[in-house]
Amino acid sequence: MYQKPTINRVDFALASKYGSPYKAQKIKSEIDGYDVRELVERFGSPLFVFSKKDIEKKFNQFQEAFRSRYPDVTFFWSYKTNYFDAICKTFHALGSKAEVVSEFEYDKARALGIEGKDIIFNGPFKPKSALRKAAEEGAMIHIDHWDEINDLEEVAAELGREIPVAIRCNMDTGVYPAWSRFGFNVDNGEAFDAIERIFKGQKLILTGLHTHIGTFMLSTDAYAVAAKKLMQLRNRAEDEFGFDIEYIDLGGGFASKNRLKGVYQSPDVVVPTPDEYAEAITNAIYENARGKLPKLYLETGRALIDEAGYLLTSVFASKRMPDGRVSYILDAGVNILYTAFWYNFEVFLDKRYEGLNEPSQLNGPLCMNIDVIAENIMLPPLERGSVLTVWPVGAYNYTQSMQFIQYRPRVVLIDEEPKLIRERDDLAYVKEKEIDDTL
Ligand SMILES: Cc1ncc(COP(=O)(O)O)c(C=O)c1O
Repeated sequence: MYQKPTINRVDFALASKYGSPYKAQKIKSEIDGYDVRELVERFGSPLFVFSKKDIEKKFNQFQEAFRSRYPDVTFFWSYKTNYFDAICKTFHALGSKAEVVSEFEYDKARALGIEGKDIIFNGPFKPKSALRKAAEEGAMIHIDHWDEINDLEEVAAELGREIPVAIRCNMDTGVYPAWSRFGFNVDNGEAFDAIERIFKGQKLILTGLHTHIGTFMLSTDAYAVAAKKLMQLRNRAEDEFGFDIEYIDLGGGFASKNRLKGVYQSPDVVVPTPDEYAEAITNAIYENARGKLPKLYLETGRALIDEAGYLLTSVFASKRMPDGRVSYILDAGVNILYTAFWYNFEVFLDKRYEGLNEPSQLNGPLCMNIDVIAENIMLPPLERGSVLTVWPVGAYNYTQSMQFIQYRPRVVLIDEEPKLIRERDDLAYVKEKEIDDTL
């Protein structure tokens, strides 16, 4: 295809001891042995691909890191991170229970056969009907705010029995901005007041303490602070009110190997290992434990699934922008890649391309200026139909995706072989809930 020639400045300052940025090409031609071009031919483009092997490997690393240090650890799969049935079932088969933050997610876990007693019910919005169902089914309800204490006491009165509960706590862990809008604050005494209120109400029994200090937390110290503060609160609540607090739940928030925008160093340098997270948390528990150790619950989401997810997308067209950069128009946009706003993804080529790299931009198919998958990336001249692999994209993207302008794509999980786990949207799907009786 002919394109009008342009003159571009070559910035030699970019060359470093790692070689010239004009020649390096990152290539990924297969996922778990399946050729990316063949996957796209067979299932269409764009295509989300999940690797069961990657999920199992990561889960086992985290589980081993914690279980080798602490006697009683349970992982609860954070549904909101990725709630395809096939993905949830994979985690449940590995021994994860379920962590949900809405009645919809609660019902989804129940529909997969997870019993109420194996579900942690978090979140700031739990209507009374949902609380009642969860209480009847023995779920672990984590109270977020004062109104929820009242609601649950009413449910307890209706059921004619006490309900075991946990409270969510927030605190200063040295990482800012602190996530302080969920749960009760430990530092200003609010969490202790909530425990006292629960004790005095005599309808709820406190059995757990929970915190989720943030997401993509690069500091292991923050977890050590959180575990210490929860343990100290546990000791005090047991001493003053005689509660038997069976578990502490450190939530999620461990970082994946994604490259956060604005963070210069590579994820291999800045992201703590599972062992480092585990060491910080378990040491803090041991140092502050008196008597029986609590069970340790974790709700890690992103770190377990992000790297197991790949997005295959094809070059639809290219054009040169007035600033000299090439814009490649891809068939995948930010409506299915919400995390593009936070991360500079790795972008792999399906094969080696002729020619020198040029500063390029990857755009999606949406008629929206914000539809940018990669703003400034060095790429060789690509062809129409070139297949790119965007990675890591396994966490949050599909659960937060929008049916917007384009249909959402198919999803496959590679187990022994690639299996379709979600069909693409179509017109019937989009129109299904519309009502038009005006004509
Ligand atoms: C209560 C709770 N637990 C667990 C998670 C999972 O967090 P992450 O994916 O950062 O591990 C979240 C996510 O925001 C959450 O709100």
